[in-house]
Amino acid sequence: MSLHAIQTTVRQQVDEALSGLIHALPGHAPELKAAMLYALTVGGKRMRPLLVHLTGNMLDLPRTDQLTISMAIECVHAYSLVHDDLPAMDDDDLRRGQPTCHIKFNEATAILAGDALQTLAFSILAEQPLSRYGDKKRATLIASLAKASGYLGMCGGQAIDLASTGHTITLDQLKQLHRLKTGALLTACVDMACKASEAITPDSHRLLCEFAELIGLAFQVQDDILDLTASTETLGKPNGSDVALGKNTFPSLLGLEPSRQELAKLHQQALQALDALPYNTDYLVAFTDLMVNRDH
Ligand code: IPE
Ligand code: IPE
Ligand code: MG
Ligand code: MG
Ligand code: MG
Repeated sequence: MSLHAIQTTVRQQVDEALSGLIHALPGHAPELKAAMLYALTVGGKRMRPLLVHLTGNMLDLPRTDQLTISMAIECVHAYSLVHDDLPAMDDDDLRRGQPTCHIKFNEATAILAGDALQTLAFSILAEQPLSRYGDKKRATLIASLAKASGYLGMCGGQAIDLASTGHTITLDQLKQLHRLKTGALLTACVDMACKASEAITPDSHRLLCEFAELIGLAFQVQDDILDLTASTETLGKPNGSDVALGKNTFPSLLGLEPSRQELAKLHQQALQALDALPYNTDYLVAFTDLMVNRDH
């Protein structure tokens, strides 16, 4: 089966499960419910669920566990995008080809939708079905996602992003920023699939997380490059937003061509990490290529 076909199936399953979950919520706050549904289900490449799925399949992780982990991660991811677009942060008005959540609804509703999506992620991990072995691991899964989302992960990275906007930082600081704001959640996809899987050695778990950290950084480097090189129409979000805001990005620090070389280096390092694993990693190799070469 091609990676593209797998991606389509994973996207359909995750979209259906997430919209089912939101529709099942009671109707006491209809505006908030509509904003959550909008942020979570209108568009999105679902790269993180695909990574959970490919890692999970390689490790014989049951589909139930893959889906529960993926739903939780997409809730945190969607919340991070809603808050990232707010006027107090990147102040963007287009996301996934549609008005951003605070434009479509209003700022207060967007803040609450982000808040509620974040807590929903942890309700999912606490309550949605997991296999017998996965069920014993709920607390470690919750801890993994919490760490990747908060001060030690995405929120910490976003804080460095905001604090450093408008003045130049070092390449090492930029890498730390990108690892935290974007890499941490992508690494959590792999870490959680490993933690829920019965048959994985500590060595393979470590190597897979190393791989995920490399593609996590690469993903944000490509996001920085696309902000400069792709059209708003292709991206579904405003191109040139980083430049307009004075953001620290790989191209702003190194220039476009050196950024492409850094990306190629990360790509190679990620493939080397996969090479050292005792599994058939063909799909993860294809996934890495897709992440690095994506056009939106
Ligand atoms: C965008 O993530 C934000 C970053 C972390 C770079 P994606 O490019 O995965 O966004 P969607 O989910 O496909 O819209
Ligand atoms: C955002 O980075 C990372 C998040 C944690 C949401 P960006 O600000 O570059 O993401 P886009 O370009 O708006 O999707
Ligand atoms: Mg941002
Ligand atoms: Mg942004
Ligand atoms: Mg960006």
